[in-house]
Amino acid sequence: MESIQAIKQRFGIIGNDAKLNRAIEKAIQVAPTDISVLVTGESGVGKESIPKIIHQLSHRKHGKYIAVNCGAIPEGTIDSELFGHEKGSFTGATQTREGYFEVADGGTIFLDEVGELPLTTQVRLLRVLENGEFIKVGSSKVQKTNVRIVAATNVNMFEAIKKEKFREDLYYRLSTVDINIPPLRERKEDIHLLFRKFASDFALKYKMPTIKLEDDAVAILVKHRWNGNIRELRNVAEQISVLEQTRTISAVTLQSYLPSQGSNLPAIINTSKSESDFSSEREILYKVLFDMKGDLNDLKKLTMELMKSGNASDVQKKNEGLIQKIYGDEDEDESFDDAVEDLEVLSIPEKTIIETPTIENSQDKYHFAEEIEEEETLSLQDKELELIKKSLERHQGKRKLAAAELGISERTLYRKIKQYDL
Ligand SMILES: Nc1ncnc2c1ncn2[C@@H]1O[C@H](COP(=O)(O)OP(=O)(O)O)[C@@H](O)[C@H]1O
Ligand SMILES: [Mg+2]
Repeated sequence: MESIQAIKQRFGIIGNDAKLNRAIEKAIQVAPTDISVLVTGESGVGKESIPKIIHQLSHRKHGKYIAVNCGAIPEGTIDSELFGHEKGSFTGATQTREGYFEVADGGTIFLDEVGELPLTTQVRLLRVLENGEFIKVGSSKVQKTNVRIVAATNVNMFEAIKKEKFREDLYYRLSTVDINIPPLRERKEDIHLLFRKFASDFALKYKMPTIKLEDDAVAILVKHRWNGNIRELRNVAEQISVLEQTRTISAVTLQSYLPSQGSNLPAIINTSKSESDFSSEREILYKVLFDMKGDLNDLKKLTMELMKSGNASDVQKKNEGLIQKIYGDEDEDESFDDAVEDLEVLSIPEKTIIETPTIENSQDKYHFAEEIEEEETLSLQDKELELIKKSLERHQGKRKLAAAELGISERTLYRKIKQYDL
């Protein structure tokens, strides 16, 4: 059996944390079996290397390895992506298509963000897990496949089960073995190690001398919360590597790159609450801003390509994935909506003024600083419910038509139907 150290080297994993080592050890142990594994841990902790290790150390290593981000595929196409479809099974299905479960026969499928799978897809997945059987969309023929599944999630699955968003039976089927990757803030010893590795990678990439942290900067680095974990750390290392002229980084300079002191973040003027009460609201704001920044970077990339190529349809073809990521299906950004919803739920007190621009969504207008009276919200909800019901009745339950009439996407309508239990 390959040693943990050798595996780390082979897969580019930095760190010596005991829990991280245990996670890698578990991956090595389960690899030769076909046991299903659920990798858990916050976003950015490095979950993606676990399924790769498992696949590479298994007898399936010459088979296919397919990583699927369940959260990024629109609900309407996910069954077809995973299980394939028959020609003519829906508008646009001009060809019979093999799904990942057929293509990966004899290999491994990594289902990332598995908590995002729609319930209907969960039923199909359970069947594959139980007896290797699946049926293409629009077909009645049962097919067989032999696929090893490794799933990952950054959401609390027990909560998802309680909210009936995730099937309990599927959860237990997926998580025969649970491999947990600890958040970076619990791996303090690894933080500077990782930073040095990223600093040297980026120095090479950008052909500049490697940045180095002064001692008090190291202390700040280790104390930071790293809510975005290794992804955030890498991002900070990259920004500093590119932007700082002086290659010895002081505590003050480092601090200016960390969110808690970030000058480009909304100022939270607090008159009634203690500092600690704000942490969760602030975290949500950070998340919103992080997401916006990510979108902005994607847009920048797209704009650059457009400028370079000058041919819009070429660029569109080449960047389908990116365009899908930025614009989602139609015009909405679910994670953003969810974050804002969370923010509203937290009920910002009267005297709190959060200075941030008003952000308008296609359907709703959110004003962060706005006080929303509960009654008003309720009656609005009633109206919405009534409108949705009427529209669905008028169109004999056809969601597509109702969504078009209501001016919202099918996915939003689907979410509302679930929310109101229609
Ligand atoms: N131990 C590690 N050593 C070096 N890089 C890592 C480590 N863990 C994660 N990374 C890097 O951090 C980023 C986020 O990791 P990823 O596996 O995508 O996180 P997750 O899937 O948990 O959100 C990736 O760029 C990955 O290469
Ligand atoms: Mg991931």
